[in-house]
Amino acid sequence: MGGDSDATVNKLFGSFGSFMRRILFNILAMGPIPNHIAFIMDGNRRYAKKQNLKEGAGHKAGYSALMSMLKYCYELEVKYITIYAFSIDNFKRRPEEVQDVMDLMQEKIEGLVKEESIVNQYGVRVYFIGNLKLMNEPVRVAAEKAMRATANNTRAVLLICVAYTSSDEIVHAVQQSCQDQEAIQASNGVINEEKQEKHHAIKLVDLGKHMYMSVAPDPDILIRTSGETRLSNFLLWQTTNCLLCCPSVLWPEISLWHLVQAVLNFQRHHSYLEKKKKQL
Ligand SMILES: *[C@@H]1O[C@H](CO)[C@@H](O)[C@H](O)[C@H]1NC(C)=O
Repeated sequence: MGGDSDATVNKLFGSFGSFMRRILFNILAMGPIPNHIAFIMDGNRRYAKKQNLKEGAGHKAGYSALMSMLKYCYELEVKYITIYAFSIDNFKRRPEEVQDVMDLMQEKIEGLVKEESIVNQYGVRVYFIGNLKLMNEPVRVAAEKAMRATANNTRAVLLICVAYTSSDEIVHAVQQSCQDQEAIQASNGVINEEKQEKHHAIKLVDLGKHMYMSVAPDPDILIRTSGETRLSNFLLWQTTNCLLCCPSVLWPEISLWHLVQAVLNFQRHHSYLEKKKKQL
């Protein structure tokens, strides 16, 4: 879609009250609703530049877009939402920017557990996904606290990927699987070489079990904004049969309309995707 028609449609949908939205979602729910949607929230910095704002303001606008998107998804009864909040590669950015993002993240994570937060409003269990050891102490503590505080929520699940890359996740899963094998061998007291060989066969399910993302089924839709069509080391293991949607808007500009388009697209491809999944 071009920028102009996007703006018109956004205005139209922006003025949609929650009542209209409910009607729209009821119609959508006549078809299959995705169980899991993942987001790469790309374009916060470009948005700030475009609007002549400071970089931090771009991230804040991005956060508010995220809150709207989560609300729509929960209203649509999408059970799992995954967001790519911070890549391990982002640590390579300017230290001040990394610090700003960490500060914002800490503030927002602490906000998650507050009474009036979207998480409590919709009964959402929160997981932080990734190599949490890489996060600075206050953010990690806040993340762990939020996970504990929401552990009994069952209506929906929010997976927040921080200090995450797929390659890191896969290496982690391989290491864990090897450790398991060693533990099994140690407990069996294996000496026989042939037997050892057999024991060393790590299976697909073993790796899958040790993925950080194993708490959720694979995503049905991955939405990446800014018109970028790369996965950028995000959920490589989990996206074999996932529909990719790459609207051209920057993340802070994403609207209900883009979500609706993605769901309609998913519904069009649904029977094909289901067939593919069964072949696995
Ligand atoms: C979750 O439920 C368990 C068992 O009922 C309870 O012990 C624990 O305090 C609950 N946690 C929270 C954060 O409410």
